[in-house]
Amino acid sequence: MTDSILHGRPRRHLFTVVVMALWAAGGLATMPAIAQNTLVPEGEASPYHATAFPDRIVLTATVDPAHAQTVNWRTRGSVDQAYAQLAEATGSPGLHLNAKNVTGETQKLDAHNGLAHHHHVTFTDLEPDTLYAYRVRGDNTWSEWFQFRTAKDDFSPHSAIYFGDAQNAVKSHFSRVIREAYSTAPRAQVMVHAGDLVNSGAEDNHDDEWGEWFDAGSFINSMLVNVAVAGNHEHLRQENGPRILVPQWPVHFRFPDNGPDPLKNTVYYMDYQGVRYIGLDSQQALQDQTMLTLQADWLRDVLSNNPNRWTVVSYHHPMFSVSLGRDNQPLREHWQPVFDEFNVDLVLQGHDHSYGRGENVATGASGQMNGAGPMYVVSVSGPKMYMLAEHNHDAMDRVGEDVQLFQVMEFQEDRIVYQARTATGELYDAFDIEKLGDGSKRVIDRRPDTPTSLCSNPEERTGSSCWGGSSFLRPEL
Ligand SMILES: [Fe+2]
Repeated sequence: MTDSILHGRPRRHLFTVVVMALWAAGGLATMPAIAQNTLVPEGEASPYHATAFPDRIVLTATVDPAHAQTVNWRTRGSVDQAYAQLAEATGSPGLHLNAKNVTGETQKLDAHNGLAHHHHVTFTDLEPDTLYAYRVRGDNTWSEWFQFRTAKDDFSPHSAIYFGDAQNAVKSHFSRVIREAYSTAPRAQVMVHAGDLVNSGAEDNHDDEWGEWFDAGSFINSMLVNVAVAGNHEHLRQENGPRILVPQWPVHFRFPDNGPDPLKNTVYYMDYQGVRYIGLDSQQALQDQTMLTLQADWLRDVLSNNPNRWTVVSYHHPMFSVSLGRDNQPLREHWQPVFDEFNVDLVLQGHDHSYGRGENVATGASGQMNGAGPMYVVSVSGPKMYMLAEHNHDAMDRVGEDVQLFQVMEFQEDRIVYQARTATGELYDAFDIEKLGDGSKRVIDRRPDTPTSLCSNPEERTGSSCWGGSSFLRPEL
């Protein structure tokens, strides 16, 4: 249902055309090196050392969210036991009177900010659709009481929020996005993070970046169920050999244990009120053929036995790249046929630092749902911005440069209602996927009649980049 008059390809500046040609010929240098990626200035004591007070408190997906909930948090090394309290939430402050003490596991991580203990507790035997209150213990102190609601046992409508890469200047620039998302959908129950939560560059202080990510999300992370997948920036470069998962991932996030053996905790699924959320590890897939086919086989198994009404898959590298000079062909060869065969509904991706949405994009047949293929979305929540590949103005239903976004999805009985909104809350893209009586689907395009967002940076635009991401942190600005 592409409206070529309202949403047709805008004319591009000659500069972009020249730059694209140079880029394609390899004639341009890459972006300038990132000097600083957090608000912690060089030489200043970091505010992100672990202390007696519990911090980085995050709820993560479980196999059975109607009856179980995992919480992860951090303290300084003097706290040796993962210890939490859980009570059915009431209006009375006497939550502790009926609280159950629950213990779990503790892992050590000696990161840039010193030794920290990372704790994980899974609350089990919970009642479905019930509001619980919990708190986690620090050194002779507690966190505040947080509340979460367990999932219903069967299908029931719910909302979820999805973010593309936060990655750079996370506290400075991602904070307003996640907070606007929460203001827009305060009763959402799930948050999907499609990789590159932080930058983890070789020279950077990764632990400050993680500190900023948890600072930005703050109590929202402690109330909603988080589904996160690992991007290339959650995999560290090694001098010889493939990238490896950053040590912060397994200590911050404990995900369902239902993935394939070598990729547990980055590949998993959760069934939440009739929606199957599946997380894949596209970095491992793209750097190792065995990990690519292993995930395809696992995915086939997981989708062969899927009683849910809707299926959402998230991973980092796009099936159909949006930005200039990018392509992930192996995913189309090994994963796309499985998505098509098993009628995946939505695919949520990141990595390209731009926005792009469409279906059957490879053939340019976007907007013609064949009743089986998923809708593919690429989005970005942080400030690093790349330039769109020219052909995607035609190939995709909605694209955007230079715009920080979040997405809200409502999973209803007969439709998914999807909206992408800018950091200011303005509607940028929208569609429904309607499931018809015969099981087929159709897409109803509801994108607003507003111009395509294009790069506005007058200063630093270089090659494929609109904004470098960390340049916003220069103290002189
Ligand atoms: Fe990425």
